[in-house]
Order: sequence, then structure tokens, then C-alpha cells
Amino acid sequence: MKTRITELFGIQHPIIQGGMHFVGFAELAAAVSNAGGLGIITGLTQSTPELLANEIRRCREMTDKPFGVNLTFLPVLTAPDYPSYIRAIIDGGIKVVETAGNNPQKWLPALHQAGVKVIHKCTSVRHSLKAEAIGCDAVSVDGFECGGHPGEDDVPNFILLPRAAEELKIPFVASGGMADGRSLVAALALGAEGINMGTRFIATQEAPVHDNVKQAIVAASELDTRLVMRSLRNTERVLRNDAVDRLLEKERTLGANLKFEDIISEVAGVYPRIMLQGEMEAGAWSCGMVAGLIHDIPSVRDLIDRIMQEADDIIRARLAGMLAA
Ligand SMILES: Cc1cc2nc3c(=O)[nH]c(=O)nc-3n(C[C@H](O)[C@H](O)[C@H](O)COP(=O)(O)O)c2cc1C
Repeated sequence: MKTRITELFGIQHPIIQGGMHFVGFAELAAAVSNAGGLGIITGLTQSTPELLANEIRRCREMTDKPFGVNLTFLPVLTAPDYPSYIRAIIDGGIKVVETAGNNPQKWLPALHQAGVKVIHKCTSVRHSLKAEAIGCDAVSVDGFECGGHPGEDDVPNFILLPRAAEELKIPFVASGGMADGRSLVAALALGAEGINMGTRFIATQEAPVHDNVKQAIVAASELDTRLVMRSLRNTERVLRNDAVDRLLEKERTLGANLKFEDIISEVAGVYPRIMLQGEMEAGAWSCGMVAGLIHDIPSVRDLIDRIMQEADDIIRARLAGMLAA
């Protein structure tokens, strides 16, 4: 399939694996790129720029296809050493960066000068237009359904994607709630040029996370996620568990007085325990409503081949058949 996104990034299929904290290691990124999609290493999961450089090297040993790096600009007081992370990305020969969080404008000249294409993740049309105005090459439009941070506007993809299509000139992919060939065809119909998936890629054989995480996603339904940290304007969609119930109880009790320190034991530093050790009650971890559509743990290649075959069947047989009739 050829879209503006496959052309822009030089990939076979219009499928991107979004950056995921303690999931987006070289093994997953390489598997996605080898299967014809765009794999992405999560930059800040590597605690130093040197470790990121090493992760890029490891990934390059596993694939000769293009892969990218996610750089999340966090709303924190002591920022990571972003200039050195960007140097590691450029020196590592990376040609695609997925930015997320705060406005990436400051970092665009250095990236563009090095021939790096930038796709910025946005949860609203106005942020997408801003990304276009500052010179981003593409946008990943992340609807309310998404795992991770859906923003504060709560607009689901059935509205957000066609609204983005009405306004944007640069290409965009649909992110949030994407799982299969039906998602891909729907996203294309709504104006996107491809899809970005997070949660679906965790439940694959190559995702380098504990099996408990994969099984939790398969067991979950579309009713099992919760929104946390709303009052801190740092909303995150997570899978419900005991820690999340505790966190929500604190949010209810403390209301507008809630501070980050009150919930630190449920959210800070929990990812390695959950993703690597499989301690499923250790804290809150991002998961999309799309868990309800995930029923198996295929290899990345089988998943991507299945998505493309299903999309082809829907377009050629189901939809074309309806027109013929
Ligand atoms: C476990 C997990 C961790 C994530 N970590 C990050 C992150 O560090 N940076 C980022 O930009 N997005 C992160 N995301 C968001 C994904 O890149 C993607 O936008 C999102 O998962 C899409 O929604 P979906 O889960 O419905 O596919 C994360 C998502 C999940 C599920």
C-alpha cells in the first residue's frame, strides 16, 4: 500500500509503532521495521544519551530497514539532557523522530539539518496545526481512546481524524484505538495516511516485556481502562488494577488539593517493575481501550501481514462489493 506516510518514511506498510516507555526497546522496533512498518525506540527509557546511542546500534544490528526514535518532552522541572539525546539520534543515523508532549520547535532546526523527518504526536486539531506551522513533517493524531496521554479535550477519533483532515496539509496517521485491518481502512477513510499503534504492539511475541503484561491486555475488555491524573492536567489512560483504584480514591478524596506527591507511590518509577518484572499491581501503566479488540499474542510480522491482508479484503471485497451491488 502506498500513502504519503509510506513515501515520507520509506516504509512498505503505513503502520507505525508509537514510542512506549519500557516497551520500545530495540527488539520491538526492529521487529516492526523488519515486517515493513516503522519501529520506534523510546528515547527516554534509556536513562542516558550514551545508552540511547547503544540501543540504536543494537537495533541497527537487528534490521537494515528504517526505524525511528521517540523523544517525549515532559512537563518536569529538571529536564533530561535533550541536546545530548538529539546528538545521539543524529549521530546514530536516525532519519525519523516521533516527538510528543511539549512543542518541539526548539529542536527542529538541528533535526531537519541532519535530514531527520519529524512526526509530532498531538491530541487536538489546534496542536496539529501548530505542529504544521512550526515545520513538522507529519502528525500522529492521538484520539481520546488512546493508551497513554490523551490530553484534556476528550475528542474521540471518529471526530478528531476528519477534523484533522479538514485542516491539515501535512500527512497524518491515526493513533489511539487502532488494532487491525478494520482500523486501518477506517483511518484511511477518515483522511489519515496510516495508523500508529501502541497497546496492540505490546501483545506481540517480540515485545520485550513480561508475559503477565501481554496476558493482562488479552484478558482486558474495552471497559477496563481508567483516566488518572485529570486534576493535575496530566491525564493518562491506564489499565485498571488495585493501584489505580487506590489512586482514583485519593483523587476523589483530595479533589482539587491533589498534588503529584500524593500519588507518587502509584505512578513514579513503576514501569520497570511492571514491564520487566511483571508485577501487575505495582502501579498505573498506560493501556488503550483497544485492549477490548486484542485477543491474541501473534508475532509482529503475522500481526502486520494480517492487518494488511484484512485491509485489502475489506477494500476489494466488502466495500467494492457494496458498490457493485
Ligand atoms: C505502555 C505505554 C507506554 C507509552 N509510553 C509513551 C511514551 O513514553 N511516549 C509517548 O510519546 N507515547 C507513549 N505512549 C503512547 C503510544 O505511543 C501511542 O500513542 C498510544 O499507545 C496509541 O494508542 P493505543 O494504545 O490505543 O494504540 C505509550 C503507550 C503505552 C500503551
